[in-house]
Amino acid sequence: MCGIVGYIGREDAVPVLLKGLKKLEYRGYDSAGIAVLGARRLLVRKSKGALKYLEEKVDAEFSAGELAGTMGIGHTRWATHGEPSDINSHPHTDVSGKIAVVHNGIIENHAKLRSWLKDHGVAFRSATDTEVIAHLIDFHYNGNLLQAVTESLKRLEGSYALGIICENEPERIVAVRKESPLVVGAGKGENLIASDVPALLEYTRDVYYLADREIAVLSRESVEFYNEDGVCIEKKASHVDWDASAAEKGGYEHFMLKEIHEQPKALTDTLRARIKTNASKSIDSKSINLEEIGFDASWAEANRIVIAACGTAWHAGIIGKYAFERFARIPTEPDIASEYRYRNPIFDPRDIFIIISQSGETADTLAAMRLAKKNGARIIAITNVVGSTLAREADLVMYTWAGPEIAVASTKAFTTQLMCLYLIAFQLGALRNTLSKEELARALAALELIPAQAEAILGAKENIQRFASQQFNKSKVFYMGRLFDYAVSLESALKLKEISYTHSEAFAAGELKHGPIALVDPSTLVVAICTQQELFDKMDSNIKETKARGAAAAVITYEDVSYFDDTADELFRIPRTLDSLTPMLSVIPAQLYAYYTSVLKGLDPDKPRNLAKSVTVE
Ligand code: G6P
Repeated sequence: MCGIVGYIGREDAVPVLLKGLKKLEYRGYDSAGIAVLGARRLLVRKSKGALKYLEEKVDAEFSAGELAGTMGIGHTRWATHGEPSDINSHPHTDVSGKIAVVHNGIIENHAKLRSWLKDHGVAFRSATDTEVIAHLIDFHYNGNLLQAVTESLKRLEGSYALGIICENEPERIVAVRKESPLVVGAGKGENLIASDVPALLEYTRDVYYLADREIAVLSRESVEFYNEDGVCIEKKASHVDWDASAAEKGGYEHFMLKEIHEQPKALTDTLRARIKTNASKSIDSKSINLEEIGFDASWAEANRIVIAACGTAWHAGIIGKYAFERFARIPTEPDIASEYRYRNPIFDPRDIFIIISQSGETADTLAAMRLAKKNGARIIAITNVVGSTLAREADLVMYTWAGPEIAVASTKAFTTQLMCLYLIAFQLGALRNTLSKEELARALAALELIPAQAEAILGAKENIQRFASQQFNKSKVFYMGRLFDYAVSLESALKLKEISYTHSEAFAAGELKHGPIALVDPSTLVVAICTQQELFDKMDSNIKETKARGAAAAVITYEDVSYFDDTADELFRIPRTLDSLTPMLSVIPAQLYAYYTSVLKGLDPDKPRNLAKSVTVE
């Protein structure tokens, strides 16, 4: 978490830095700060709380010309070491105030370094791990910032993306990363750094992704790259073809609502290039085009699939399990990345590892991937961010073409992750002959309909808005379902708790009677997801059991099903598809319900308390 930006060019740095930080606010909003270098004086301004407080603080000064300067760095914080406060906000400086540092990550040996620096007479101001970096660089500074940084890196343990400026060197920004994301944007007469691409798009689409321990030195006219020993290296720029408006709200009140609405397009983009259905040709494994990612028949020899991910991506992994086992008959174990990496897992060279991460930067997810890789595993990454660490380190990468996801609560990344998982499942099923040609043809035809069906659900969003306006104050909301619907329940409950702070949980409906039903009372809303046709009668009984205890019950089911008409207090309809594909549709009413509940409670769904979009700490 935390977002960092840096600018060196000909424009006033303050507005550029503030605009960049605005784009990165999803990474943390405990505090914000900037350091600007003007007239050989380093000026640092920082403020606890959301970015707007910093903006208010610097506004008058900037207008009065007191914060002039054409280079600087900025930071938006998600607190780890030290409470959110002005003092603990970044940038941090050395004792003399000539070196300023912004940092995303955690310095694991900060306590040792702190006491070592104290022994050398350094007086600390903050409780952060970051402050040691500023003092350490100063300790090694001998007129050459790059050299001081390379010397300091030798002592730092942990993760970092750093932007560093020095009053004595008004012609350069030094940036470096290890296990935290950092992108360099190459403009004309100006160059930038940022934790994520959207912060750069207004200035350039030519970017360099730094690898671990690579250093970038930015001047106005050029960017040079060095390895950790300070030896110059060559790097190739990548071109980002996102449209800058893809990272804007585009008329929606919140990014989350915009991203919910982008799902039909995101699903189409994720699917389009990957299937080749043609009425005149018969359907077979070649109808799915995963060659672009290097997927060949050897992957179908797997004995087992292991999936590791966090949060919403983990929920996608659970749905992946049901799909892989149903269509390819390969035993599949989805695991939470932070659990997987510590449980001494068993490896088999024939396993397929699928690692799912919207950002491609989640620390626990990357650690799980590296553990699997070290043990010889073959890795498929499903990620949304081109050039992310996950994308660079995996054997195969399947991108979700969802475009930038800014809202902290993941929506379009989830449904497109599912689209990728289904495509892999169908491809494996076709290659292993566990799926007949007819079944494959039916599945692909159904997949092609999903984007338009998602659009139809969005067209009826007023129903959900109305229902939310009646229910948003419910103190307990329980989602329940079976099989695919249970996995969607997990994701639905997570959405609601993340952004509305409602106590919401998900239950496998059959488990209700083994404990959770004790929680049900008249203050409870139960949302039953009922799309698994052969289990309708079981679900109906479970709903009735909760209603008998006073709960209100809403049901998400197909538009042509009347089974629950008498049981449900409220029905949300989704278009008919294969029972196994419903998660891409049934989650949409739940996303909307969470969104409207958050708004009705007067909260900001894009910036839920205590959460960050990209969790780069363990
Ligand atoms: C954070 C976000 C979640 C996300 C999870 C995993 O907790 O708030 O929305 O699902 O990280 O992120 P990833 O980028 O790895 O998918």
